[in-house]
Amino acid sequence: MIKKIVVAYSGGLDTSVIVHWLKNKYKCEIIAFSADVGQGEDLEPLKKKAIQTGASRIYIEDLKNEFANEYILPAIYANAVYESNYFMATALSRPLIAKHLVKIALKEKADAIAHGCTGKGNDQVRLELAVMNLAPQLKILAPLRDWEMKSREEEMAYAKKYKIPVKATKRSPYSIDKNIWGVSIECGLLEDPWQVPPEDAYQMTKSPQKAPDKPLEIEIEFVSGVPVRLNNKKYELVDLIEELNIIGGGYGVGRTDMVENRLVGIKSREIYEAPAALIINNAHKAVESLTLDREMLHFKDQLVTKYSELIYFGQWFTPLREALDEFIRKTQKYVSGTVRLRLYKGNCEVIGRKSQYSLYKKDLATYDEGDLFDHRSAEGFVKLWGLPGKIVGMRDKKNG
Ligand code: ARG
Repeated sequence: MIKKIVVAYSGGLDTSVIVHWLKNKYKCEIIAFSADVGQGEDLEPLKKKAIQTGASRIYIEDLKNEFANEYILPAIYANAVYESNYFMATALSRPLIAKHLVKIALKEKADAIAHGCTGKGNDQVRLELAVMNLAPQLKILAPLRDWEMKSREEEMAYAKKYKIPVKATKRSPYSIDKNIWGVSIECGLLEDPWQVPPEDAYQMTKSPQKAPDKPLEIEIEFVSGVPVRLNNKKYELVDLIEELNIIGGGYGVGRTDMVENRLVGIKSREIYEAPAALIINNAHKAVESLTLDREMLHFKDQLVTKYSELIYFGQWFTPLREALDEFIRKTQKYVSGTVRLRLYKGNCEVIGRKSQYSLYKKDLATYDEGDLFDHRSAEGFVKLWGLPGKIVGMRDKKNG
């Protein structure tokens, strides 16, 4: 028997119908929960709306700081990116939302949580794996996988029948998920991977063609892997991200268009906008290029794919992710320094970098006067480095 359910609620059509449908089906109390992760919507009206829809209470929580410091920051340290193009704004937010769903469910002594994810996407996996790990005793309900309604029209009819308040405004033809780390946009015309993304699909970036004709130079300073200053001004991480989204977005920076491999086995086409993520990622890698030694840099690079998969595949709350995070955090000790970047019509180029911990030694690298590199010791080094290949060559006699 289910007596109380906490629903991850956005106030949109799906989750509004869910609140009513669950209450009707289980004859139980419904608690709504909405998280502010920087989707840029006013959540205040949800208070009234949730109650009108049938919830007995709604929790609204501003999670932007926690999102930035505990989810995005580890992704920054790791240079996390899925299939080279997606900085995982959506994927990173799900374990955070799940964590708070669980917190409220325990506080409310609820027996279940419910979400509005479909059976085809990655988000059901991310939310449910997090809940399964954090509170295995909770039941998980996913009405979109269970109910008979097959289309938006049927849900609209349901909402009308039960007088559930839904927005009358014209709906976007796309499915959009937005937070401070970026926007994910799919469906509609985009389902044809050959179709050029229409300009109206983009939410936070100017078209590169319409971006200013003059480039903009910016400087970002990192302290132990954390971006802390923009153009010499100190920022909290969440504010820095928001500022870089505005600046980068104005220059058309951070758009990607990709076909990706979902966890549920299908490929899907999605476009993303992540100006701050792209700028920070470029800048962070530039400081690492100066401050990490070769072995560390190359080893850390090998972890990017695995670490990103853990995020994308819903494995945030796992011992492996936690252990990797400890390792990766340790790699950031000397990742301090400043990067100069140039934003211009959709591009974000690194054009300079410096660090008090730089391992770059000009007197070793220079081809000019003052060269301290010991050229003669290179001879012995090359001889021994090539020795195994030489022995193979003597056996194979490729050229007689
Ligand atoms: N494909 C992305 C992911 O799995 C985003 C999913 C949500 N996208 C959306 N437009 N609602 O992380």
